[in-house]
Amino acid sequence: MELKCVGILTSGGDSPGMNAAVRAVTRAAIFNGIEVKGIYRGYKGLITGEIKPFKTENVSNIIQQGGTILKTARCMEFMTIEGRKTAHDRMVQEGIDCLVVIGGDGSLTGARIFASEFNFPIVGIPGTIDNDLYGTDTTIGYDTALNTIMEAVDKIRDTANSHDRLFFIEVMGRDAGFLALNGAIASGAEAAIIPEIATEQDQLAELIENGFRKSKNSSIVLVAESDITGGAMGLAERVKNEYPQYDVRVTILGHIQRGGSPTANDRILASRMGLAAIEALLEDQRNVMIGIQNDQIVYVPFNKAIKNDKPINRELLNVLRTLSI
Ligand code: F6P
Repeated sequence: MELKCVGILTSGGDSPGMNAAVRAVTRAAIFNGIEVKGIYRGYKGLITGEIKPFKTENVSNIIQQGGTILKTARCMEFMTIEGRKTAHDRMVQEGIDCLVVIGGDGSLTGARIFASEFNFPIVGIPGTIDNDLYGTDTTIGYDTALNTIMEAVDKIRDTANSHDRLFFIEVMGRDAGFLALNGAIASGAEAAIIPEIATEQDQLAELIENGFRKSKNSSIVLVAESDITGGAMGLAERVKNEYPQYDVRVTILGHIQRGGSPTANDRILASRMGLAAIEALLEDQRNVMIGIQNDQIVYVPFNKAIKNDKPINRELLNVLRTLSI
């Protein structure tokens, strides 16, 4: 099929590097003679018709910007068949004949359903700080968020040391522990409490039995947000009640993790994936997410990327445990 016009949107939680991806998709499409339309506020813009033609200059000077110039939203209407029908009508009206969706799990789930209902060519790009998409070693925004966590924890360590305190620092990740585990290694934290191993062991009891950190007076524990871990607040309460000898404090890093200028790694990843998305469409690929495995671009069917849980690398657990003595 000859492609004439590609629509591009960002959806779900924003992540640093989304703009670099928007730039890459736009420029790669124009380079290949394909027209580009920017769709605002994710799937919502498809329904309301907030759509604008994009030229190369629309994406100038954005590679370094956090957030997304296309704005983003979590759209309830797109979850209904009526909403998706309106979105499809709008695309036909706009002459958009294929779509690139930049987002996480929820956004690609929407893309998969839409693509199969309307037999519409869609390629996904994994943009989420959570790094929780199967079939790709990393996602756009994850590296920047990890660096933000590292810098924040470095600062908290200063005050933790001065006061001989135990800090529980909660990081994002939805139901995945990648940010917590790698954030803990990068910041030299004593432990990470993550949902992936919560059913195997009582991670907090283990920490307490080991006396947190025998050789030091202060300790930092990174906690992945999730009902499964109980979050930083829950764990801190438990320690306060059971072990009043510890001077415990909690920091929830929150949305600071989603902002900021993307790292070089995220900009490069976004640029490669953006170009790959257009190449995939030109190769007649449909319903795939662009992934990266061992530094090679791969196409991952939506079904695989969404439905499988991405496993954590157990070697990393060992690194953290061994080095935090
Ligand atoms: O998926 C990205 C993410 O930042 C998660 O880590 C977090 O659980 C969620 O989005 C927060 O969403 P919101 O900004 O809508 O509160």
